[in-house]
Amino acid sequence: MHIQHHIQLRPYNSFRTKAVARLFCEPQSVEELTEILKRYPTEKKLILGGGCNLFFTEDFEGLVIRPAIKGIELIRETEQEVEVEAGAAEEWDRFVDQCVSKGFSGVENLSLIPGSMGASPVQNIGAYGTEVKDTIVLVKTVDMQTGEPKAFTAGQCGFSYRDSLFKRSRRYIITSVRFRLQKSFTYREKYADLSRELSGIATPTLTQVREAIIRIRTRKLPDPDLLPNAGSFFKNPVLPLEAKDVLLKTLPDLPLFPAGENRWKTSAAYLIEKAGYKGKRKGMVGISGDHALIIVNYGTDNGKEIVAFMKEVQNEVFRQCGVMLEPEVWIF
Ligand code: EPU
Repeated sequence: MHIQHHIQLRPYNSFRTKAVARLFCEPQSVEELTEILKRYPTEKKLILGGGCNLFFTEDFEGLVIRPAIKGIELIRETEQEVEVEAGAAEEWDRFVDQCVSKGFSGVENLSLIPGSMGASPVQNIGAYGTEVKDTIVLVKTVDMQTGEPKAFTAGQCGFSYRDSLFKRSRRYIITSVRFRLQKSFTYREKYADLSRELSGIATPTLTQVREAIIRIRTRKLPDPDLLPNAGSFFKNPVLPLEAKDVLLKTLPDLPLFPAGENRWKTSAAYLIEKAGYKGKRKGMVGISGDHALIIVNYGTDNGKEIVAFMKEVQNEVFRQCGVMLEPEVWIF
């Protein structure tokens, strides 16, 4: 068990903000992880995956645990489907790539999402009409309160849009995730942008769907290695019927998607663009000119500057549209 002291977290978050962790470790196995939890039962803890959906505003006076549990294993195979289990430290998109090249379908719409396997159930990653919850069968964790392993079936994970039990309670460290994938594939239209990209192809294959998504995302979303960011910064707001009707009076082309009884999901990017923030820069922080939902870092290492800009965008969207945007990204 190797515990490091006073570690700079800048390389471990895609926004590249600075913060020092008093203690830091990268357990390679579930056994090593439980040992660490036994040794530091009362220490404040922060669990880090790929660091693609969070940033730091201050030093962390506790123990940062960055699971390094790897491996992708075929658990079960029938004529129609497979179950595959992957360690928390596997890179999400490497997993998707492997599934697609083996002809296993179910996660291809989640191509090119940055981050680690362990983070994928936490915020129930989603794109192009698919959420990771649709293919998950089991999430294996270690309970930080008891130090014991605990597995959750998909139904026990409390999944909803960009949310899960793991996000709400922050009590469990995810060590691996098991998926059920199909050995056949038929493309079904779920998302206009994707169908447009595939419009020249009569029956798209799994590989063609992955390639189309990679093209769309590369065009729209800035590469965090070139321009630090954490993907979508805000959640898409869900509006009750009355709020939707009020907003439609001033914004008749507001995008709306049904989100349950009398509830409508709209586009945070659209509202930010309408508020005049697309491509706008304040000092070292701004909104991407390619996609209004992405806050980008032009060169600060101080997370507080990102928070100040976030608040400005929230206040201005609220002032102009009456909707308070909620960050999707975690701020520490
Ligand atoms: N739009 C604008 N201005 C923009 C960009 C988009 O007005 O600059 C409007 C357009 O009307 C467009 C609509 O927003 O049709 C939707 O845009 P997009 O397809 O890019 O999707 P999104 O709702 O902005 C969500 C996810 C993304 C995911 C895409 C594709 C959230 C918070 N974000 O974005 O996820 O890739 O759908 O499915 O739900 C992420 O979570 O980091 C992420 C990138």
